[in-house]
Amino acid sequence: MEITYRRFVPSEADDLVAFLTGDTWPFHGTAVVDPDQARQWVADGRYAGDGNRAFWITAGDVTLGLVRLMDLGDETPVFGLRIGSPYRGLGIGARALTWLTGHLLTDFPRIRRIEGTTRQDNVAMRRTFRRCGYVKEAHYRDGWPAADGAVHDAVGYAILRRDWLAGTTTDPDWNDGDGRGRPRAGLSR
Ligand SMILES: CC(C)(COP(=O)(O)OP(=O)(O)OC[C@H]1O[C@@H](n2cnc3c(N)ncnc32)[C@H](O)[C@@H]1OP(=O)(O)O)[C@@H](O)C(=O)NCCC(=O)NCCS
Repeated sequence: MEITYRRFVPSEADDLVAFLTGDTWPFHGTAVVDPDQARQWVADGRYAGDGNRAFWITAGDVTLGLVRLMDLGDETPVFGLRIGSPYRGLGIGARALTWLTGHLLTDFPRIRRIEGTTRQDNVAMRRTFRRCGYVKEAHYRDGWPAADGAVHDAVGYAILRRDWLAGTTTDPDWNDGDGRGRPRAGLSR
């Protein structure tokens, strides 16, 4: 399947509202998006505004999903990824994350790292991160209150420019002694 990424322009607001309200997003803060809410998000410049841009993920005339890029003036931008429910699990999310990573690190030389956070139980997104070279850096216990009152953990992933360039993945140094100095060989703490 040939996939293209086409930049969203504000004149496509109705299409964007239809996309956001026409599906369910179980791992987002708002699983079912209200049309007024979606229009407000567009009016607020979340998809085309200062430091924000979005891209339709398409195959021919079919809209498969949407990439949203945020904090583009920073050295560490973040992103949102939504694949329409009929197209999930087909490899499109992983392709889109690979694409957006390359797009950001190519077009924005200041960017050193790209971050993404998801709910702990969003297995598909977590596997997508790993598949695309992102590494888990953070675990926020009780960090994701859901609309139904349940409280979930959140997990943070990131990719470094230097890893992307080298084709490597490097994990954080978790064994750094937790502020008490690095453990010496032979000493148990
Ligand atoms: C999360 C999402 C972007 C993943 O994209 P996708 O196209 O469905 O995923 P892919 O087919 O590219 O698969 C990527 C990885 O996820 C795994 N995966 C996909 N769907 C899965 C599922 N339902 N359960 C478990 N793993 C799944 C794949 O096996 C693959 O992992 P692997 O390389 O280790 O085999 C997509 O499902 C989506 O948009 N979901 C709804 C919105 C959402 O949750 N966005 C993220 C919010 S932070």
